[in-house]
Amino acid sequence: MVKVEKIKRVKGSAKIPGDKSITHRAFIFSSISHGESYIKNPNMGLDTERTLKIMSKVGARISIENGEIKVSGVGLKDIKEPDNVLDTGNSGTTTRLLSGLFSSVNNKTFFLTGDDSLRRRPMKRVIDPITLMGGFIIGRDNGKYLPLAIVGKELHGITYNMEIPSAQVKSAIILATLNANSQSTIYEKLKTRDHTEIMLKEFGGKIEVYGNKITVYPVEKLYGREIFVPGDFSSAAYLIAIAMLLEDSELILKDVGLNPTRTYLIDVFRRSGGNIEIINKRKVNGEDVGDILVKSSVLSKIDITKDEAPLLIDELPLIGAIGPLVKGGVRVVGATELRVKESDRIKLIVDNLKNIGVEAYEYKDGFIVKEGAVKGGIIKTAFDHRIGLSFAVLGSVCKGDLYIEEIDSIKVSFPEFFEILRSISYG
Ligand code: S3P
Repeated sequence: MVKVEKIKRVKGSAKIPGDKSITHRAFIFSSISHGESYIKNPNMGLDTERTLKIMSKVGARISIENGEIKVSGVGLKDIKEPDNVLDTGNSGTTTRLLSGLFSSVNNKTFFLTGDDSLRRRPMKRVIDPITLMGGFIIGRDNGKYLPLAIVGKELHGITYNMEIPSAQVKSAIILATLNANSQSTIYEKLKTRDHTEIMLKEFGGKIEVYGNKITVYPVEKLYGREIFVPGDFSSAAYLIAIAMLLEDSELILKDVGLNPTRTYLIDVFRRSGGNIEIINKRKVNGEDVGDILVKSSVLSKIDITKDEAPLLIDELPLIGAIGPLVKGGVRVVGATELRVKESDRIKLIVDNLKNIGVEAYEYKDGFIVKEGAVKGGIIKTAFDHRIGLSFAVLGSVCKGDLYIEEIDSIKVSFPEFFEILRSISYG
């Protein structure tokens, strides 16, 4: 258990470590390409490490040179059969993206399993479209959960309407189609993060996006290249919140990924009074990148509607945790997906807030948090990194003392959090 230190104000600038979603994709695409790739500023969390290890077990050669990762790709058509079960740890992204890819490797067998949390998370959402493509995946409890057994087949493309907004499922279909014998068309009702689409083009693949329609084509070869991974906006979000909630603070967050499918939190904070500016905006490897200037702000009433929740899915735990410090509190609906993340995040946010003296209530698809004093107490993370990070934010700026159980969970996505926070805190 760790006591969260109080911060009086933050000042200066911080470089945000690499984006987790983009790093997973960079490791996968470089591994299935021909030739060498250099991945600069990769995310160094536990989840992305799982992806990298697995790609080495299926034939990619990996080395670290001057802080960047060098990958010599095995090639899309030469992915090897691993000689043991692949452990995806806590990482849903690794599991779902690679289930799609491996299903397309004809005649090779792959077994995937993960930690206690991941073995409770739904996998049918990936198995369904892959089965429609002619794939073969079986999972525990009638195909619901890990462990999964995947027997690679020659797949055909599909037309698929995404019922659940999920970038992981969309990406699984895209990856499976690269090795298939015909194209796939995917329709998204609600747009999800599009890093796979952007990066596939960078590696020489063919994919067309018109509004909510995505068409992806099989490809003979992808080509290795250099990729700069921008800072993770979802990690930047914790520091944005701290700078806004403290008095007399001003912070520049450098080289942050600003892909519009990821940054809706800026709109939400701005309409609630957040003082946030984007400077030095540019494109790198097809992704928007820039610096974020954030100053002390008074936040009032955050109300998230059904259509907005999917655009904020990884930031909702933060919105919930800072709820008591927002004038008029916080209300979120349309976020049922939060119940099947690394933990049941709706329940954990509300239970933790109640435990530290805050008035909070669960909805089936969201929560309500009232403005009020934080008395303090113990936070349970259930090993969920976003719960740990979100309450670390609250604990560093609120009056009461917070003690966080299993703080090591933050290593999944943002191991550098406390070090960066110390480097920008004054007074
Ligand atoms: C991710 C997609 C999201 C997100 C997760 C990372 C990705 O999950 O919550 O942290 O990298 O594709 P879903 O697509 O399942 O909503």
